[in-house]
Amino acid sequence: MSVPLTFSGRVVLVTGAGGGLGREYALAFGERGAAVIVNDLGGDIKGGGKSSAAADRVVEEIRAKGGKAVANYDSVEDGEKLIQTALDAFGRIDIVVNNAGILRDRSFARTSDLDWDLIHRVHLRGSFLVTRAAWNHMKNQKFGRIIMTSSAAGIYGNFGQANYSAAKLGLLGLANTLAIEGQKYNIHCNTIAPTAGSRLTETVMPPDLLESLKAEYVAPLVLWLCHESCQENGGLFEVGAGWIGKLRWERSLGRIVRQKNQMVTPESVRDTWSEICDFTDATKPASIQESLQTLVDVLSRVDTGITANPTSAVSIKAAGTNPSAAIGHTLAEMSFTYTHMNCILYALGVGMSTKDPHHLKFLFEGHEDLSVLPTFGVIPAQSSMTGLSSVPGLDIDFTRLLHGEQYMELFKPLPTSGTLSSKATVADILDKGSGMLILLDVHTYSGKELLCYNQFSVFIVGSGGFGGKRTSQKAVLTADPPNRAPDAVIVDETSKDQAALYRLSGDWNPLHIDPSFAAMGGFKSPILHGLCSFGFAARHVLKQYAGNDVSRFKSIKVRFVKPVYPGQSLQTEMWKEGNRVHLQCKVKETGGVVLSGAYVDLHAVAAADTSMSASPPQTAGLQSDLVFAEIERRIKDVGAELVKKVNAVFGWEITKDGKTAREWTIDLKTGSGSLHKGAYTGKADVTFTVTDEDFMEVVMGKLNPQKAFFAGKLKVRGNIMLSQKLEAILKEHAKL
Ligand code: NAI
Repeated sequence: MSVPLTFSGRVVLVTGAGGGLGREYALAFGERGAAVIVNDLGGDIKGGGKSSAAADRVVEEIRAKGGKAVANYDSVEDGEKLIQTALDAFGRIDIVVNNAGILRDRSFARTSDLDWDLIHRVHLRGSFLVTRAAWNHMKNQKFGRIIMTSSAAGIYGNFGQANYSAAKLGLLGLANTLAIEGQKYNIHCNTIAPTAGSRLTETVMPPDLLESLKAEYVAPLVLWLCHESCQENGGLFEVGAGWIGKLRWERSLGRIVRQKNQMVTPESVRDTWSEICDFTDATKPASIQESLQTLVDVLSRVDTGITANPTSAVSIKAAGTNPSAAIGHTLAEMSFTYTHMNCILYALGVGMSTKDPHHLKFLFEGHEDLSVLPTFGVIPAQSSMTGLSSVPGLDIDFTRLLHGEQYMELFKPLPTSGTLSSKATVADILDKGSGMLILLDVHTYSGKELLCYNQFSVFIVGSGGFGGKRTSQKAVLTADPPNRAPDAVIVDETSKDQAALYRLSGDWNPLHIDPSFAAMGGFKSPILHGLCSFGFAARHVLKQYAGNDVSRFKSIKVRFVKPVYPGQSLQTEMWKEGNRVHLQCKVKETGGVVLSGAYVDLHAVAAADTSMSASPPQTAGLQSDLVFAEIERRIKDVGAELVKKVNAVFGWEITKDGKTAREWTIDLKTGSGSLHKGAYTGKADVTFTVTDEDFMEVVMGKLNPQKAFFAGKLKVRGNIMLSQKLEAILKEHAKL
């Protein structure tokens, strides 16, 4: 025999317990040892009249069976008084069953203000007032069970019950939020939609049905939901006739109706209507986080040009964890197009500032040595994380996802603009007991060339214990720092808006900006992105040990330990051991470690130089080749004159189909001038980047160089003033 559910020591308030369902609950609780407050106003079903008889009768019944009970005759609109009765009589309140109710049925057109208001006052406002009066007592004692009484009329609608339906479904909304707010205090709130014969239903049900749908069939569900051993919270149940069913939301996969840089139109909604409403492969979102996750997923899909449906993805899926199905699974390739704007925005996001003159090369597109921070390499790769939701064999609750660790390796410095593609593979899945660890490997390419490798270690709290392995050869491991005081320390403030700025680089999780979303996650305010602290730490190492030379950066590994709040200062402690710089990052104000086991590996100086001199791919058949051939001839003729006039070295990057196709150097500084293919071995005074086509437009005089510059067609690095001399040089050749 299983252990019977008892309630000794518990104090229960049942509202509207003078008859019908409430009476059954009160009797059942009384029988099982609870002290019961039997509340009933004792009015008629429309909310008129008042009498103490109903409550008194039930109290007597409970006492006659040896139970403990007291009566309360106040209206639920006096919520505090009901709870005070419990406190006065028994010193505490553990369980509140909001049950009191009346009916004022009318067709909608005939519903008066009074019909509307009375129903809302008793059902919705009454439940609110009673529950609020009990809330702090429950919170302080870290125990509480609350029942809201909804109705099928609210869930499905019912003719003549507009006022009642609205109030009854309002109770469900109230319960949904109380379940969330109460969870950490062990206060659970569930909702029932009962059906039973009572004076409320006798006008709508035939007598024999009224008789058979006994109120006592509903009470057992209420008792179970209110027991301390029941962990159900936020549930909605239909109950009657000795049957209980649970309800939840179902949502169609839906359809993305927006495309990048385009407005949504009513026509696109009309034309995809049947798909929007198609419940094949429907999902069952269970939290606002899952709901938002869908939107985050959609934003990244629209942004990367994937306008297929969000996969079932975005919600919890039915299948359990099956590592063998998931390991090795390759996700849909993600494309990422960016310009120097993204690189600069990222640099600002990780705290770079014009206050430090050495930061200028990361912040000013006109800088002669415009560079991309190495850790920008996580940006094209990060959207792959959203793809985890579509991996077979994984059943991920995204609200429980923590970014555990990050490894990133660069194979060459990142270009300042371009289109990159990222391919992600589930490298391994580990069972850590308290959770599941997913290793996601993401390789990012420019064309066929591998630029960057990321390993995301993603921890899903509570998803462990599926019998998987605990370690993996594929995991890039953290490394502890040497046991001595750090060799160098850099402290940097994060601004109050650091997270607001960083998220513009593509991590739209509201956790980093929306206070109420952060509160749901248990944080006192929005937190900084782990990858933002990661960016701070990496650039501290780059500054301290590599003179901000991005070509020296090889790789970084960190473990995320604790959140950082925007406005706090980050303190990066560094230990140099050969080409490895161990690091640890703390919040200066608290001393709490936020990044641990971390390191940056640097290239030795010589190695870095060779990787830099790799020449771009050469492409045949550029129109601009003819112009440069002509320039070469001209330099032979009048080079000495041009050197006098111009006295500068011009670099040219001619692009075709988004890639650098040719580089030229026009040296009008040395000797009598020269032109050669390829980048200048020293530093050009100014470098122009332009497509083959636009170059020709400029040369032909169809496009003014200044206009081309402001239209973003001609990019200039270095001494921008020298572009004034450009027109003169090119114009000569336009006459050809
Ligand atoms: P009932 O009329 O037998 O019980 C409701 C009790 O609430 C009455 O004793 C009444 O005096 C009391 N009450 C009314 N206004 C009050 C106030 N302001 N303060 C304190 N007590 C007040 O009806 P029944 O059927 O037992 O209903 C209980 C709850 O279940 C109600 O909330 C009702 O809307 C809900 N419900 C019942 C269904 C059914 O099939 N019986 C169907 C769906 C919902």
